[in-house]
Amino acid sequence: MSNAVYPGSFDPVTKGHLDIIRRAAKMFDRLTVSVLNNSDKSPLFSADERVNMLRVICRDIPNVEIDSFSGLTADYAKQTGTDVIIRGLRAVTDFEYELQMAQTNRKILPSLDTVFLTTSLEYAYLSSSIVREVASYGGDISEFVTPEVAEAVYKKLEDCQLVNSKRKY
Ligand code: PNS
Repeated sequence: MSNAVYPGSFDPVTKGHLDIIRRAAKMFDRLTVSVLNNSDKSPLFSADERVNMLRVICRDIPNVEIDSFSGLTADYAKQTGTDVIIRGLRAVTDFEYELQMAQTNRKILPSLDTVFLTTSLEYAYLSSSIVREVASYGGDISEFVTPEVAEAVYKKLEDCQLVNSKRKY
């Protein structure tokens, strides 16, 4: 049985992530999407909230499971018996960092390979930070995230009083 892990921050999960998840799920028997829960980052959403959002939007993909981890991705892969990491590549600007990560991971765990999927063109510009930025100014994020995630983002920003101007959408 082939399995792969798609690690990331997913703060929040975007339609670009979902596109990668759907395509990777077709390539492997089982895909684990795993949320990084490292204390040195200060995410908008807690790891549990990010896990829950992923569970909701991936509920129709039977071979996808959602998890979280802390520490090194390579250690997590070893613990879960995974030899393949999935990452999305949006543009050449992603490449240097992604290559460095993939090579570091292989140095730590030589059996670990990274499979890169090129992001669909319609999501090439998209990132979680763009979603947070646009939403924080009350902008429309419906092109970027699913409706459930959009609701959660606006609510979180309101709860944190991070909305710079009133929500317009
Ligand atoms: O969604 P992101 O923020 O681009 O995901 C980055 C992630 C979580 C894959 C990366 O930061 C990571 O693997 N962090 C865990 C720490 C680690 O293993 N670092 C060594 C690789 S350089």
